[in-house]
Amino acid sequence: MQVLENISLKPYNTFGINARAKFFAELHSDNDIAAFFSSLTPERMPFLILGGGSNILFTKDFEGSVGCIRSKGIVKLMEDDSHVYLKIAAGEVWDDVVKYAVDHGWGGIENLSLIPGNAGTGPVQNIGAYGVELKDVIYSVEVADVIARHYRAFRPADCEFGYRSSIFKKKAKDRFIITGICLKLDKQPVLKLDYGDIRQELKNAGINRPSISAVRDIIIKIRSRKLPDPSILGNAGSFFMNPVISADDFARLIRQFPLMPSFRSGDEIKIPGAWLIEQCGFKGKRFGDAGVHGQQPLVLVNYGSATGAEILALAEKIIGSVNRKFGLRMEKEVNIF
Ligand code: EPU
Repeated sequence: MQVLENISLKPYNTFGINARAKFFAELHSDNDIAAFFSSLTPERMPFLILGGGSNILFTKDFEGSVGCIRSKGIVKLMEDDSHVYLKIAAGEVWDDVVKYAVDHGWGGIENLSLIPGNAGTGPVQNIGAYGVELKDVIYSVEVADVIARHYRAFRPADCEFGYRSSIFKKKAKDRFIITGICLKLDKQPVLKLDYGDIRQELKNAGINRPSISAVRDIIIKIRSRKLPDPSILGNAGSFFMNPVISADDFARLIRQFPLMPSFRSGDEIKIPGAWLIEQCGFKGKRFGDAGVHGQQPLVLVNYGSATGAEILALAEKIIGSVNRKFGLRMEKEVNIF
């Protein structure tokens, strides 16, 4: 492992923010991770672990050590009649993992196609799209415990998975570094086609008996139409989470705003933040190089040279506006540094 000094993080975050790290190292193996922690003398603290950099907004330089996980490897651990268990290194690009599974005919993650980021950061925010969440297919999460200085594995029941949330994002933030994940995939895939336009899109494409590969292609088509490609336009996917409120609160709101869309989420009601932001007039708006995406207003974008502080200021403006109009609080999904 080589520790570099005063490195621009622009290539390491999908928002393309030009913040600098005082110390920086790429970590290609468990040994590199151990070496990184040994390198953390007091003057090299604090530390930050980066995966694909797809859920982070830098608002200033990082005056400590950044470790960027780059470990690779997908291994079939075991299989039985119905399932295959894949061990995946944290540094694998998530969509490469989806492609690998789909190419082998193993089902479960095809709806999570094209989500930016790495395999190891997936559990942190329990990535989800089109009716599937990572928690549905996770068998275990392998971590390095920074405090106890050992390696261990979490079973899903201990991960406290919720909507875009987990123990790794909340209670155990900064304690565990995810070094790998194990997925349990179906050898006889069960397709999940109920979200939004998936069925209609398959029908439009003339596909009557879809395979997981056809589902992957359709999801890629829908996502590419609605969501900006970070390699072209800097962004971190949904910047906000959708507000989740009680049925009573929703009953009050819908009297005032009869056109408000909603989705059931267990006993609660999820309101599309995209609609709230659109109603406040921000859809497609641009303020300097910081903007709100024109097809999906939950996504904030960097048109080139926006600073993290400018993107954050836009986010706060949106939060204030939605709060004044609807009395709802939009929570940020992206990590702010
Ligand atoms: N909508 C609008 N205006 C728009 C776009 C959407 O009013 O311009 C409303 C519509 O009512 C639409 C609803 O928002 O039915 C939902 O839109 P969409 O299906 O795009 O989903 P979302 O709730 O906005 C979530 C995830 C996305 C994920 C999609 C698809 C969150 C925070 N975001 O978005 O995840 O791709 O569902 O499953 O839950 C991400 O986390 O980075 C991400 C992109």
